[in-house]
Amino acid sequence: MDKAHFDQITERTGTASLKWDRYPSEVLPMWIADMDFPSPAGIQEALIKRVEHGVFGYTHPDVSFKEVIISWYSTRHGWQLEPDWIVFMTGVVSGLNNFCQAFRDSYHSVVVQTPVYPPILHAPEAAGLQKMEVPFSREPDGRYSLDLDALEQSFQGGKCQFILCNPQNPTGRVFSQPELEAVADLCDRYDVVVCSDEIHSDLVFAPHRHIPFASLRPSTAQRTITFAAPSKTFNIAGLSCAFAIIPDPGLRETFKNQVESFSGHTNALGLTAGLAAYTTGGGWLQSLLEYLTANRQYLQEYVRKNLPGVGFYPPEGTYLAWLDFSGFRIPDPARMLLDRGRVALSPGIEFGNPGRQFVRLNFGCPRQVLANGLDRIALAVTKELLS
Ligand SMILES: Cc1ncc(COP(=O)(O)O)c(C=O)c1O
Repeated sequence: MDKAHFDQITERTGTASLKWDRYPSEVLPMWIADMDFPSPAGIQEALIKRVEHGVFGYTHPDVSFKEVIISWYSTRHGWQLEPDWIVFMTGVVSGLNNFCQAFRDSYHSVVVQTPVYPPILHAPEAAGLQKMEVPFSREPDGRYSLDLDALEQSFQGGKCQFILCNPQNPTGRVFSQPELEAVADLCDRYDVVVCSDEIHSDLVFAPHRHIPFASLRPSTAQRTITFAAPSKTFNIAGLSCAFAIIPDPGLRETFKNQVESFSGHTNALGLTAGLAAYTTGGGWLQSLLEYLTANRQYLQEYVRKNLPGVGFYPPEGTYLAWLDFSGFRIPDPARMLLDRGRVALSPGIEFGNPGRQFVRLNFGCPRQVLANGLDRIALAVTKELLS
């Protein structure tokens, strides 16, 4: 797949796109986490073939789906899965809520690290559980790191669940082996049940490497439910197909019962697309990562040259950039950018209090669109400084 494939602009208006329909047409959307690239040809072909069949009754995952997931995990993430461990579900957000609901009688609180993807922030309270927020530490250069002391304190009350997000949305951190080992030690010490949202695991920039939390050691595998999906990797979020990996039979049984009762079936087209993605999408993914790496570089240089007051630490994974506007001392940076620059980014406050002065930018788009968005941000900043 060459660069031209990703440079190509695909008109998305008129497709009921959440990203493109939320704002008036003159606003450039760079908020929600889907990309503006067409999915790999293998996915499109499989979908066309399935649609041409014309009958869309209740569908279960093809027997080969688990095999391709096992092979994907073993070659890409060095984790050997058993077929029984895989539980299909309609999406990771419903999975997060099902996780909190399924175990709420045995636990009284859920620990989350902030800033974090909003549905992770809200799932505990939606299940009637107490939420404990542990903010990440921030280094002077803007890089986020784990606050292990605060994490340990939050576990000390006992009987708690923990939702880890790795690669982390919105900071773009991909946690290293020593960092994950330190978290695993704490989880072992305080007997914490973990939900590890790893939906961005395929979108990691070299030299960083995704390490599935549950793959660290047997005790971690037994206490962890891992969430993954082909949706971010191959841009098929509208097709609702995801899965959980649960080595422990007890956790699996409880979670599976919850999902089957409350979340319904994965749909026929999502299953078709997911299977085709893991079967045929490896080469496309490699090209995507090269393109996103170059976008990240472009973004970094642009911020350095043209947005001197904006803080930015390059993400290690995801196609999301977390931009620090605290130097501007304005109450709502996303609103300012929308009003003055006609560019829509995700307001940082949605990711919890530490995000108040930040915005999240989605750079999963053709370079030309990224350049346009950054010019709009620079224009907005100039107007703001002159006001
Ligand atoms: C960390 C994280 N989890 C889950 C999701 C969404 O998952 P799904 O579309 O499968 O519900 C996203 C989407 O941005 C995400 O960033």
